Amino acid sequence: MRPKAWWVVGAALLLLLGLAQEVDPREEAKRQKELLLQTAGILPTELVVQQGEELFHRKGPSGKTMAECDFGLGKGVLEGAAARLPRYFLDTGRVEDLDHRILTCMTKVQGFPKEAVKRSEVVAVAFYIASKSTGHRINVRLLFPQEKELYALGEKLFYARTGARDVGCATCHVTYVGKRAGVLPYADVLGKDQSWTHWPAYRYSNDQTWTMQDRIRACYGNIAHPQPDLYSLPILALELFLAYHNNGAVVEEWPAFVR
Ligand code: HEC
Repeated sequence: MRPKAWWVVGAALLLLLGLAQEVDPREEAKRQKELLLQTAGILPTELVVQQGEELFHRKGPSGKTMAECDFGLGKGVLEGAAARLPRYFLDTGRVEDLDHRILTCMTKVQGFPKEAVKRSEVVAVAFYIASKSTGHRINVRLLFPQEKELYALGEKLFYARTGARDVGCATCHVTYVGKRAGVLPYADVLGKDQSWTHWPAYRYSNDQTWTMQDRIRACYGNIAHPQPDLYSLPILALELFLAYHNNGAVVEEWPAFVR
């Protein structure tokens, strides 16, 4: 072959290599994780979990720590609790997810004023509590009427299409599943890809810690739809709907480490 031909072959190989790297974002995440472990000796997820644990044991204005709060399985019981959220809570009379329940704990039990609760602290505590569900199966139920109602709202929102582009969650996550959005394929968030278990997570691509609430809000942002507020009903409804469809999925590692 002439030198020019070699150049073409080389370029084609590089392209293939690039494509191969794009093929599996999960494999790439694993590689990045190994790299970080080798260079830093600790993962950002672990640091945030530690921070969350400290906040969990910090006393609030009422003198109580978060161990006084019930995350669904009884006061202070964390083992497997996050895998069973969202769920209905009798004491607040509403369905809550992990983020919302942490907020309830900090305001109603620990006595922090709502304005004083930092989002970064809620996320850190969510990382810590979620870490206690690694290895558990997602088990979300629709027993209370409030849960059934919220699920129905989540289903409606998931299939709704809005905006100038007439798109909704299902456009990307049902119709276009597997097709590529830049680097990442659109996930089957209602089953095959077990997406519910990928959050809360540390995203190495932009060095951010996200819970599922942040993930869903970002997707609303992608379609230029006004983002529902954190802790709001539409977010909780979509979460319950997604979690229910991911029932039975095993949490490989919470918090996760993703692109
Ligand atoms: C325009 C296409 C598009 C629409 C519409 C969209 N998403 Fe996404 N979604 C994406 C992309 C792309 C990703 C992956 C991006 C990333 O992780 O960087 C993603 C990721 C997700 C994930 C995480 C998947 C996983 O396995 O980690 C969930 C859950 C999700 N979206 C839910 C929703 C919900 C709920 C809606 C409706 C409010 C929605 N998405 C609307 C494109 C979309």
